[in-house]
Amino acid sequence: MSIALLIPDRKLDQLQQKLQQQLPGVTIEIWPEISKPEAVDFAVVWRQPANSLTAFPKLKALQSFGAGVDSILSDPGLPDVPLARIVDPDLTRSMLNYLHGVLLHYQLRFDQFAMQQQKQQWKARSPRKIQQLCVLGLGELGKAAALYFQALGYQLSGWSASPKQIVGVACYAGLNEFAKAVAEADVVICLLPLTAQTENLLNDQRLSQFKPGAILVNVARGAIVDDLALLQNLDSGQLGAACLDVFRTEPLPAEHPFWQHSAVLLTPHISAVTNADTAVLQIAENYRRVQAALPMFNLVDKQRGY
Ligand code: GLV
Repeated sequence: MSIALLIPDRKLDQLQQKLQQQLPGVTIEIWPEISKPEAVDFAVVWRQPANSLTAFPKLKALQSFGAGVDSILSDPGLPDVPLARIVDPDLTRSMLNYLHGVLLHYQLRFDQFAMQQQKQQWKARSPRKIQQLCVLGLGELGKAAALYFQALGYQLSGWSASPKQIVGVACYAGLNEFAKAVAEADVVICLLPLTAQTENLLNDQRLSQFKPGAILVNVARGAIVDDLALLQNLDSGQLGAACLDVFRTEPLPAEHPFWQHSAVLLTPHISAVTNADTAVLQIAENYRRVQAALPMFNLVDKQRGY
């Protein structure tokens, strides 16, 4: 029995060490250097190369190293074993900090002051009116964001694929109610999972249902937004600005117009990065549960995609 860590493009020595401290005596190896593939029964994965898991015939369970699992489920060679994901208060806190920072950035017009600074222009402006927020996706992070901003005094609406009830949040569900959910929002925060249903959800039709001048914040997955439609809606002024932390291709290719667009604020997918210190506790716990033939915590519904 051994654990394989399949997280390409990331230094994994520390994760290996930290996990080893939790699971002394268990063999933990970093892909592709796996000494006995037939001994691997548990794998920690994130954007694993397609079909790489087929090398492990005795795999019993998969543990995502992140909150989202789209990059794991898209593997054509995904074994038919349970998959768990990280649900971590630390990840949630990091997301809420990011979103709060972004809201204040726009509220205090730091975007406009940065442009004024380039022109050495001294011009005071009163804060932007940002009162209504809409959160798309009311799962773990979406619900936390809605409740957090509601407690700070913002008015909240929320939209999700299936109906949800959150006290103090006007909840809408299904495509028919999308327009109502976003109609009054000054800022729309996207925290949806990427599934076949949400891919390109934010296309020209839906962006045109936003309140004119609204700001889009995408901290979910790049493929939920139709890039061209977003650029057109920014250029026409239908959208006031977009803050993007996630992209269809990451790193964002050098020639992509988002880099140069004056209404786009972009960050390199850092809104909620898994904290290895807290994640290893969940990973180790799930590993022990698999060994004891117990169901893992934070299981993903692979059919649903989240
Ligand atoms: C980050 O994008 C995650 O899904 O954890």
